[in-house]
Amino acid sequence: MAGHRHPLFARFYARTSTLMERRLAAHRRSLLDGLTGRVIEVGAGPGANFAHYPPEVTGVLAVEPEPHLRGLAQTAARHAPVPVEVIDGIAERLPADDASCDAAVASLVLCSVTDPAAALAEMRRVLKPGGRLRFFEHVAAEAPARRRVQKSLDATVWPLLGGGCHAGRDTAGAIERAGFTLTHLERLGRADTGMPFPAAPQIIGTATAPGERP
Ligand SMILES: C[S@@+](CC[C@H](N)C(=O)[O-])C[C@H]1O[C@@H](n2cnc3c(N)ncnc32)[C@H](O)[C@@H]1O
Repeated sequence: MAGHRHPLFARFYARTSTLMERRLAAHRRSLLDGLTGRVIEVGAGPGANFAHYPPEVTGVLAVEPEPHLRGLAQTAARHAPVPVEVIDGIAERLPADDASCDAAVASLVLCSVTDPAAALAEMRRVLKPGGRLRFFEHVAAEAPARRRVQKSLDATVWPLLGGGCHAGRDTAGAIERAGFTLTHLERLGRADTGMPFPAAPQIIGTATAPGERP
């Protein structure tokens, strides 16, 4: 997708995420645990979640705009335990019909999208009423001094180094402002994930789209 090429970051992320997987795999499993039916995964990167989808998932539409990461995701999809289709696209304009998905998955991506409100509105659009958004994201620190450091990094070098990543976003707040109800939220830190500041702390949880599940 034009404007989403980050060749250096993509190669760096593919390598470091492989190294981080020993710590992250358990969190990815809990992120996806209990999902059923049709899932859309937004900003799938190299496809590190794919191995952890439970067999009750009937299909995953994995959207990834960065060409190198998308290629790695296509390879990972061939070894996934459930059918995964990897396609080009962006979170702010998801290539899926209204109310076509039982769940949406966002892991370490709402930090990087250009417009988190638009991305969350799109996830809400493609989810069925009462559908689940599962998220695993690094977010703004609670301590004001750390938040200030994150904000100044976000205004300078962090997005350039991290393929558009922002360290200081209030992602739980953005999820609620998009009309989702937070039904489970756990805060994690470096001791849990190995991810250091400024990409810490992290949150993992579930939010529910408005409406009754059919
Ligand atoms: C830090 S990586 C995380 C990848 C993967 N979700 C994971 O858990 O390892 C961030 C990902 O978000 C993708 N991304 C950035 N902007 C995006 C956008 N507007 N729409 C969809 N994906 C985007 C990047 O290409 C990259 O794959």
